[in-house]
Amino acid sequence: MAIIGIETLLFGVEDLSLCTRFFDDFGLVQKSAGNDHTHYRLDEGSNVILRYLDDPLVPKSPYIGKGVKEVIWGVDTAENLEALVARVSQTQEVRRTEDGTVHFATCSGLPIGLKVFNRKKVTYAPDPLNAPGHVNRLNTPRKWKTRAKPKTITHTVFAVPDPRAEYEWYRDVLDFRMSEEQLGMGFYLRADGANEHHNLFLINMKFPALPGYPVYHHTNFGVEDIDELMIGTNYMTRRGWNTGPLGSGRHRIASALFSYLECPAGGEAEYGADSDYIDDNWIPREWNQVFGTYSWMHKIPAFLGTSQKWEFRLHPEFVPKDDTKADAGWD
Ligand SMILES: [Fe+2]
Repeated sequence: MAIIGIETLLFGVEDLSLCTRFFDDFGLVQKSAGNDHTHYRLDEGSNVILRYLDDPLVPKSPYIGKGVKEVIWGVDTAENLEALVARVSQTQEVRRTEDGTVHFATCSGLPIGLKVFNRKKVTYAPDPLNAPGHVNRLNTPRKWKTRAKPKTITHTVFAVPDPRAEYEWYRDVLDFRMSEEQLGMGFYLRADGANEHHNLFLINMKFPALPGYPVYHHTNFGVEDIDELMIGTNYMTRRGWNTGPLGSGRHRIASALFSYLECPAGGEAEYGADSDYIDDNWIPREWNQVFGTYSWMHKIPAFLGTSQKWEFRLHPEFVPKDDTKADAGWD
């Protein structure tokens, strides 16, 4: 059974024209638009749909406010979809719509669904990197870009009441894999048929700076490399959008370059590039919260000093207890 990625993110918004202007500037390509919706289609075939929060097509849930109100996960075959639905139906109420989507809710009530998804392979060709003694681009300048145009939805993130319960639900019902645990903060999960480091991050809603109730957090969109990531960010800034407190940098967990933009449709929209890609040979790790978050940041926050403890290890759930310190700096 394989879930291969995010097929659709349905946003519930307050100001449709403002949010449409944001995602147009962000670089998504419209498939259709009307008085009640804007529909973007990415090159991989995934969808971002904006609708008003009170639109009957936007499901109600305990997840408060604007943002992603439903995540449709793409399944590789109709047979696998039905096998997953048979499992989901044992505990959750399911509802089918004419387009072949099966809708239900997670253990914490977040509306999600399953749909057969022909996820097209997107092939980027980032410029080779030069370094002294390691010249991969002789007599060849880097590509000239003026705009970002994300081609994939890499991951989406929610603040949840109980990250462990939510992780175990996705694991047991939908075959998601744990990629990492960030202690006190949450779980990074990968769909079983995907190779992104994570497709879903579940953060503890009681974590400082989060509102204390279930809410959408952010979505990561894949771009080619650091140039596209920063050129897109500069363009958004020129268009009047705000990069917010985190800005850009590189995460230590997933090794990924990031650039966050405050999003009028809820939470943040993140450009992402140069992440780790993993499969079932990956051994999940467990991280100290601060150490795992950033390798570097464009605007360094006060908490990111040099005294952060070097603490990570192979996750005890996946290796014998005695082996967990093998490659780690855990005290
Ligand atoms: Fe992210």
